Amino acid sequence: MRWMRAAGRALLVVAVVLAGYSGFGAREGLASDGRGPMTLVTAGDLTGYLAPLLDDWNAGHPREPVTLVELPDSADETRAQMISELRSGSNRFDVLNIDVAWTSEFAAAGWISPLDRSRFPLDAFLRPVVDTATFDGRLYAVPYVTNAGLLYYRKDVLDEEGERPPRTWADLVRQASTIAPKHGLDGYAGQFLPYEGLTVNVTEAVHSAGGSILGDDGARVTVDSAAARAGLRFLADGVRDGWISRDALGYKEEESRQAFQEGRLLFLRNWPYVYADASAPESKVAGRFGVVPLPGPDGPGSSVLGGSNLAVSSRSRHPASAADLISYLTSERVQRKVLTEGSLPPVRAALYEDPELMRAYPYLSTLRQSVLAAVPRPKSACYDQVSLAVQAVAQDLMARRETPDQAVARLARELGGVSRTD
Ligand code: GLC
Repeated sequence: MRWMRAAGRALLVVAVVLAGYSGFGAREGLASDGRGPMTLVTAGDLTGYLAPLLDDWNAGHPREPVTLVELPDSADETRAQMISELRSGSNRFDVLNIDVAWTSEFAAAGWISPLDRSRFPLDAFLRPVVDTATFDGRLYAVPYVTNAGLLYYRKDVLDEEGERPPRTWADLVRQASTIAPKHGLDGYAGQFLPYEGLTVNVTEAVHSAGGSILGDDGARVTVDSAAARAGLRFLADGVRDGWISRDALGYKEEESRQAFQEGRLLFLRNWPYVYADASAPESKVAGRFGVVPLPGPDGPGSSVLGGSNLAVSSRSRHPASAADLISYLTSERVQRKVLTEGSLPPVRAALYEDPELMRAYPYLSTLRQSVLAAVPRPKSACYDQVSLAVQAVAQDLMARRETPDQAVARLARELGGVSRTD
């Protein structure tokens, strides 16, 4: 059914683009109270849950209808397309669903407007998530979806071997190199194509080993450490020793999900959205997999804090409607659907302790722990350049053109350059 969703999405995008270039006829002549029709722009909605939620809004707000604009799935392409529109001064986008990674950059560039804190129930959200929506002491967005990386494993295969899911890198490496080949599987995959996903995977390895790439301020370069080298070595060894397959070097989230779901992988690092797809009747691994926190050198490792925030474009002609739409999308009712219909981790803390949801989503408490322990990306206005430097170095590391020592030294040099131009 994925192709139907994709086709539906393509049609919607075409319709919205046409609407955009026809000059927003419907928007002209509206009252100047900041209310009127608007668009919500987002990365691809992989589970197709958003359109019905927006239909509900539209039914109750005939003078402030919202049109969905879907951009590609990958974090970087979505960012690039949003930015090219915002830089041109266009008012085509009203509410922006932006990756937590880019919120500081959008705020610093003046593309999104500060919001009134008192309008949103920030106390009801998971605490680390709220921080991703602030910049320079002000609230620039409202948390909408959170995310933490999890380790998916083939429970049927490990059970057959009398093994438990790995808690440490040593367990993972042993099982991936001995059990996977015995069962005709690849060992381990994450997202290793050079884009934000690779930065996330590398950062997780470094943090899990107890290191860091930048200081909390996002300016100080801290990568030159034995721990960071150990993190990079974990990934580099995987490629060298074959428990990370060459195919995985071309994976983003979706390619790696497909590999797992088609029964080709023993272990997969991915986000929680994979759980629903991998459990669907057409999945080859339905009922045969489990989820645990990411492993680290001596016990659980640490995830990068993912997710997205809703912001109002500073060019929006209807910011009052935009803020109301954000309140709706972050309400308890809609947040519940973000999980049940969208398979995405909600930001409201109470949902993680809701007995009914905990029964239906057995991974919820693992996810909550992983989100609370996750490491946010640095709040830097030039985080994009930081990420590009990490990707370039990590690509050479994974292709075995550089050793972990060389990679760390080069990353320290290149990040030093980025923070000097900050
Ligand atoms: C997910 C995360 C996001 C991250 C991206 C990387 O979409 O929610 O924060 O930047 O993956 O690919």
